[in-house]
Amino acid sequence: MNIFERTFCRTYQFGFKAAMPVLPYHEPKVYNSITNITDILNKENKTCALIVSDQGIRQSGIIDILTKILKEAKIKYAIYDKTQANPTIYNIEDGLKIYNQNKCDALIAVGGGSSMDCAKAIGARVAYPKKSIEQMKGLMHVLKKIPTLITIPTTAGTGSEVTVTAVITDSDKKHKYTLNNFTFIPYYAILDPKLTITLPPALTATTGMDALTHAVEAYIGRSTTKETRTLALEATKLVFENILTAYKDGLNINARANMLLAAYKAGIAFSKSYVGYIHAIAHSLGGQYNIPHGLANAVLMPYVLEGYGKTIYKKLHNLAISAGISTKEESSKVATQKFISAIKNLNKQMNIPSTFDIIEEKDIKKMARYAAKEANPLYPVPQLMNAKELEKFYYQVRGNKNGTK
Ligand SMILES: NC(=O)c1ccc[n+]([C@@H]2O[C@H](COP(=O)([O-])OP(=O)(O)OC[C@H]3O[C@@H](n4cnc5c(N)ncnc54)[C@H](O)[C@@H]3O)[C@@H](O)[C@H]2O)c1
Ligand SMILES: [Fe+2]
Repeated sequence: MNIFERTFCRTYQFGFKAAMPVLPYHEPKVYNSITNITDILNKENKTCALIVSDQGIRQSGIIDILTKILKEAKIKYAIYDKTQANPTIYNIEDGLKIYNQNKCDALIAVGGGSSMDCAKAIGARVAYPKKSIEQMKGLMHVLKKIPTLITIPTTAGTGSEVTVTAVITDSDKKHKYTLNNFTFIPYYAILDPKLTITLPPALTATTGMDALTHAVEAYIGRSTTKETRTLALEATKLVFENILTAYKDGLNINARANMLLAAYKAGIAFSKSYVGYIHAIAHSLGGQYNIPHGLANAVLMPYVLEGYGKTIYKKLHNLAISAGISTKEESSKVATQKFISAIKNLNKQMNIPSTFDIIEEKDIKKMARYAAKEANPLYPVPQLMNAKELEKFYYQVRGNKNGTK
């Protein structure tokens, strides 16, 4: 990246960092049991809620648990349960129709990041019926309030229950992009670990690694605050202490509760301090090949951290101490190597691959362009890279194929 582009990116990021104290962040009111849903809806005086969810949640029985509680409390609801992993614009339009047909006035998102983001985007379309999702992509296009949104995460995970973000896929253009709005931060989040015990091991692994990626990218970026650094360190500690237990022993409520807490803390950290190139590249892979978000992050994380080199030694040293794998006395270089090895090791122990066979060379230029466009100038990454410089990560992550750079 040339000096002019670099100066532009850093000035832009500095502007956002300086403005942070006056930006309208808030945290949702947190409850710990799905039964609290009735208190919330009654308090808000809502007449009909649209439940936004997906088929996996339907099959796990969680929607039945929720609707039983609503029926008993005589609260009206409608259901949209066709959200796809990496939710599409079509999902949002289908959900919106059901919202309008049933004259709903609230949204309950129950599921992982896909269901929560789908609900946020439905909310955006309710607030702006004449604007398409594409017209609202990027930063702060949704200024009007969206309907009351209650999030019930069933993965631990994206942290969408506390973030400004919705990640949406245009399946026709194979383009995944973000909508970032303060109006998207939910006012309520129910963190009920019992709802995550049905999450299968493979998804526990990849969604948990997404939470770790949020903590790591928020921490190594250049727009951190004392609060976001503390939260990112705490989230890292929680993930390292609990992810393998949650993976191997899904019924362990303590590990499940700690992973939910990790995802929540990491969600606040990255909402205020942003993510980085791992996420930008992961989104491009999700858009092109529908690779699940957490899986893409988990596989990419070691490559991108290695790619940053010395610039992040000191910060990865601190993360390694929080993870319980290094000490203050150790050199930052050694601590960094240990931290990256520990991530590779977690991936290995949880059967997460180290490369993606699906990546085709012909798609790399376009994906790198999308990743650069998402990240620059917004993400305060430790080292700036343009599309050309990001291409190397796609070549690395596709393994040793012909045409490897
Ligand atoms: N808004 C944000 O701040 C943010 C942050 C990171 C990622 N994301 C986005 O979130 C999406 C990914 O979300 P995710 O990783 O939580 O996965 P997901 O919502 O796509 O769910 C993955 C699968 O897990 C199943 N599942 C979820 N909970 C379950 C449970 N308790 N029991 C059984 N099955 C269960 C779902 O049915 C689905 O099939 C991506 O689109 C990603 O880009 C958003
Ligand atoms: Fe993420």
